[in-house]
Amino acid sequence: MSRRLTGFTPSGDLHLGNYLGAIRPVLADQASDDTDTVVFVSDLHALTLHHDPAEVRRRTLEFATLLLAAGLDPDAGLFMVQSHVPEHTELHYLLECLTGYGEAQRMIQFKEKSGRQRQVRTSLLTYPILMAADILLYDTDEVPVGEDQRQHVELARDVAVRFNTHYGATFTVPRAVHPAVAARVMDLSSPARKMSKSASSAAGALRLLDQPDALRRKIMRAVTDAGSAVAYDPDRSPGVANLLDILAGCTGARPADLAARFDGYGELKRAVADAVVDTLSPIRTRYLRLASDPDHVRAVLRAGAKRARERAADKVCRARSAIGLLPA
Ligand code: TYM
Repeated sequence: MSRRLTGFTPSGDLHLGNYLGAIRPVLADQASDDTDTVVFVSDLHALTLHHDPAEVRRRTLEFATLLLAAGLDPDAGLFMVQSHVPEHTELHYLLECLTGYGEAQRMIQFKEKSGRQRQVRTSLLTYPILMAADILLYDTDEVPVGEDQRQHVELARDVAVRFNTHYGATFTVPRAVHPAVAARVMDLSSPARKMSKSASSAAGALRLLDQPDALRRKIMRAVTDAGSAVAYDPDRSPGVANLLDILAGCTGARPADLAARFDGYGELKRAVADAVVDTLSPIRTRYLRLASDPDHVRAVLRAGAKRARERAADKVCRARSAIGLLPA
């Protein structure tokens, strides 16, 4: 049995990078008896930067609805909102006691995000440890994520090994898994930067809820390069390579093979637009249907949290006892 787990932070708009990098990989084979899939909306992570409470609540439901629309089967594993399972925060504290301050400070995302803030929340520093708790709570073997999360999964590995060494075998040691292509989808308008959920990248991000026209427009305006020949060369032609990665991610072909099929950038962009619209339109249609019944989605999340708590409680109990806490 392979146990897979991943989470999505409800800040900004979910986009094609999230879909190709993590949503589709975690949902692959979810119905197989050999796979146990845990997917959650990591709402607590959305509190690490300045936030609007009403917006976090709204996005949490939107993300959950989009994950269902993308094909998540809530009965095939666990599906919940992170904060509905308080065991995540309890284990977070225990794991903080095994993580060095310097270790947390070295995280690339912390350096990048804290550099842009005037007041840095302590939770921004400790959030990878909460992520480690998310992962270790469910005996996860594989963590399907985009490349930007690799370092955080490495930290979870280190903490798991450290806990097991000091306090006895308690946690499964997880590993990050990335899709063969599109593990780092870049922004269409500035291909040196990854596609992101933030509002500032609206022109360069292909959002799961964008209308087909908007998707086409953004792709046709994507920054390419000075030349005109279509070749797969991420270093010298990052804009074109990104389009080829997106096309490959949507169609299952290899980016270098695809390059040979196009004579010019216009033709390539039209093919990318068709493939992206074909991939995202059904998700948007299902989303609109599901979003008309939010009570149903909330009931699904409640049932998921109840089952998750049963599993998580056992693990926290073992960790508490191993680390030296007196049972009540
Ligand atoms: P988040 O919400 O920023 O991103 C969700 C997932 O999408 C991937 N991703 C990308 N993949 C390819 N190209 C891109 N441009 C791109 N942008 C984002 C991310 O790598 C991620 O897999 N901390 C996490 C959520 C989380 C989590 C966890 C993940 C919380 N607990 C436990 C795994 C395991 C986050 O904020 O991801």
